[in-house]
Amino acid sequence: KKAEAWSALFSEPMSELVQRYTASVDFDRRLWDADIRGSLAHAEMLQAVGLLSAEDGAAIQRGMAQIRAEIEAGQFEWKLVLEDVHLNIEARLTQLVGDAGKRLHTGRSRNDQVATDVRLWLRGEIDELLALLAALQAALVDVAERNAEVILPGFTHLQVAQPVSFGHHLLAYVEMFARDAERLVDVRRRVNRLPLGAAALAGTSYPLDRERVARSLGFDGVCQNSLDAVSDRDFAIEFTAAATLCMVHISRLSEELILWMSQSFGFIDLADRFCTGSSIMPQKKNPDVPELARGKTGRVVGHLMGLVTLMKGQPLAYNKDNQEDKEPLFDTVDTLRDTLRIFAEMVGGITVKPEAMERAAKKGYATATDLADYLVKKGLPFRDAHEVVAHAVKTAIGRGIDLSELTLAELQAFDARIEADVFEVMTLRGSLEARKVLGGTAPLQVRAQVARHRTRLAG
Ligand code: ARG
Repeated sequence: KKAEAWSALFSEPMSELVQRYTASVDFDRRLWDADIRGSLAHAEMLQAVGLLSAEDGAAIQRGMAQIRAEIEAGQFEWKLVLEDVHLNIEARLTQLVGDAGKRLHTGRSRNDQVATDVRLWLRGEIDELLALLAALQAALVDVAERNAEVILPGFTHLQVAQPVSFGHHLLAYVEMFARDAERLVDVRRRVNRLPLGAAALAGTSYPLDRERVARSLGFDGVCQNSLDAVSDRDFAIEFTAAATLCMVHISRLSEELILWMSQSFGFIDLADRFCTGSSIMPQKKNPDVPELARGKTGRVVGHLMGLVTLMKGQPLAYNKDNQEDKEPLFDTVDTLRDTLRIFAEMVGGITVKPEAMERAAKKGYATATDLADYLVKKGLPFRDAHEVVAHAVKTAIGRGIDLSELTLAELQAFDARIEADVFEVMTLRGSLEARKVLGGTAPLQVRAQVARHRTRLAG
């Protein structure tokens, strides 16, 4: 067995253990499409600047077309001994078209090649994630619109606070996912720059036309420093940070779905196809999907930490450490993609139980603030009103009744300013509809937000 991939410098073959340790083809083969596209653009440019003959250019195109077909048909033979996706494809090309294949690597290194491939691949994935994020938002907006009038106890500290529209609550997540999308769009701008031409680290003496390659691959521009181009993976870290935040948002939504579906809350039900049963307890229907999403958030957070740590001690320029960027990055994309896809579907299948929500809101004195605000409007300073209502709530709790079940005379004993119009104010619906401020929970506002989101998502 000879030292296949390298050169005459090597006098013995790599040990098998080292071969397995250093090889990445088992996972980086997923970059094959980006690798072929990058190579074709490089070859086209080599030809344009006179570094490659037209015949060689045509041979490379022909060879790459066959390789593409072989990979798509699952017939390509990936070899561990050829280490990674780049060397596998190049070796096969040379096998197919001879010397033209050997000329492809002119003015190129795997260092700028891999950085280019990852960026090309990630750009495509970001575009798919953006489409999925839009679909999830659209699904949430639909459910929000149908539930604009449904009253949910809003919580702070997980204690009943004030009534909110269930639609309003869902639209909070739409805001989060909209920001997640903004972040991805922003990251994409920095992903979309071309490293190719940086070669190993110092650039190249060949008169390469980097701008031409950038244009043909759809990059917005080229990386302006060769050392930086091959060595930094900040774009991957940034992407993973954006993905982490998106997963954190999904995780919070998951936690709420799980709570809401528990018997103690009973606010919603999830469609059977998103749940599983128990092997022992016949009555069980478990919200496995949101639980798993909450759990998978942990692994994405871990990938972010892994990538940041991977980068922190590396001297310029390229180091093999960077090969370790792939699995966390790939898994982040896979996890986020699958999670978004499943959530976009699951959200539409939520059954809402308005009576249970309303009952819970009533139990928690959710309109106490409204009574205080009522007294403020009658001239009492807010702090005093707060105190008056605290006494009223204490009395009501003692008797096991709602504030609205106290008689007018009883209420007037707390403050003489209270009149018969107070009962309207203390209803859940009155409380909800009063919060008409921009961004508030009044159904009127919720509908306006639904319309805004629809326009935004269509544009
Ligand atoms: N498989 C390598 C990676 O993922 C490609 C670049 C290797 N370059 C090198 N000089 N060893 O980073």
